[in-house]
Amino acid sequence: MKITSLDALQIFDSRGNPTVEVIATLEDGTTGHGLVPSGASTGHHEALELRDGDKSRFNGKSVFKALSHVTGEIASEVIGRDVFDQTGLDAALIALDGTPGKSRLGANAILGTSMAVAQAAANAKRLPLFESLGQGEGTLLPLPEIQIFGGGKHAQGRIDIQDFMIMALTAKSYDETLEVTSNVFHAAAEIMRKRGLLAGVADEGGYWPMFDRNEDVFDALIASIELAGYTPGREVGISLDIAATDLFHDGHYTLGLEKRRFNSEQFAALMIGWVEKYPIVSIEDPMAEDDWDGWKSVRQAIGHRCQLIGDDHFTTNITRIERGIAANTANAVLIKLNQIGTVTETIAAIRRTQKAGWLPVVSARSGETEDSFIAHLAVATNAGQLKVGSFSRSERMAKWNEVLRIQRQLGNRARFIGAGIFSNSGIQLS
Ligand code: PGA
Ligand code: ZN
Repeated sequence: MKITSLDALQIFDSRGNPTVEVIATLEDGTTGHGLVPSGASTGHHEALELRDGDKSRFNGKSVFKALSHVTGEIASEVIGRDVFDQTGLDAALIALDGTPGKSRLGANAILGTSMAVAQAAANAKRLPLFESLGQGEGTLLPLPEIQIFGGGKHAQGRIDIQDFMIMALTAKSYDETLEVTSNVFHAAAEIMRKRGLLAGVADEGGYWPMFDRNEDVFDALIASIELAGYTPGREVGISLDIAATDLFHDGHYTLGLEKRRFNSEQFAALMIGWVEKYPIVSIEDPMAEDDWDGWKSVRQAIGHRCQLIGDDHFTTNITRIERGIAANTANAVLIKLNQIGTVTETIAAIRRTQKAGWLPVVSARSGETEDSFIAHLAVATNAGQLKVGSFSRSERMAKWNEVLRIQRQLGNRARFIGAGIFSNSGIQLS
């Protein structure tokens, strides 16, 4: 089945910023759409998101150049190709761009095309995307990590730590994880309203609190879990995304809220101390992206009892993941399609992570679209975990709800092991 045309349009993400949508059409008239998300706390090793930089339009953020690459050079390369050869198509796109970071054509142009073709292939086969991407092997429903409080770059830096999330540790099914989350999310609203500490909603839909210390958020989160009727650390664990690259400047880590400054050793000690003090089961980016020694010391101290996820640290880049595996800097990898720029490379990053006995966590971006490709990707690859932000705003709920639909489609083939995924990879939650 041949691809007969590519079209592209500028749409808007959940922050109201321009992004790319690509539409691939096949010889039988089947279409597939690829909608590209966009980050804010981006790692320096991510593939390039091409923006026009014309300050007079959309504050420099328009993507018209990327669109013209899709309908120009990329279309010439792609038209006539077999829609079912995703690997060959992605390899051709990488070669056509010719740069390590996809900076010539733009990772947004390339990824939009790659996703549109993957979706068109599924549509042509009349299969749900997860069946097509996973070639019938994807049956594991993910354990969600869901944001309750948001901070960092997603809430104007009011709280230094970016994501305060929960994981439903004893849930027996995917549905039950959402029930637990819903209960905690609404309990947190009640607590914040009563205390008069609600400043608004952060970019990923979590509450944006007015606290004086980062650790005050732990206390509010623990109170929310208890108000919802659960025991922190037993039914519900805390998961953090420190996004420490954003806190690292001129060789030091800074918590601006508390006016505290740390060297690498001191910041690692702070992270380790938090895991000892609070019911934390997972930490993402506890150290800055290139602080390899800092990562190693955190991994050595708490890697046996806590998931340590590299986001900016790995940027879904197999070369960086392999370096991390060799140096033992983490035990999990955040997976974001637009950090690397093709569907094939994203799946390869997941496979490499799994081969090392590490855990892949499929993730949204802070700037999202209504598309739910990542829900399918998580199930297709049996990744076991999904991170999409909070439990509000439809660009987030679209993903959580899509997993419910996938569960129905799988019927009795659906599997759920929840937090069992941790012990599978040698992490013993304490
Ligand atoms: P980003 O945030 O999409 O702004 O990078 C998400 C994350 O850090 O995990
Ligand atoms: Zn992150």
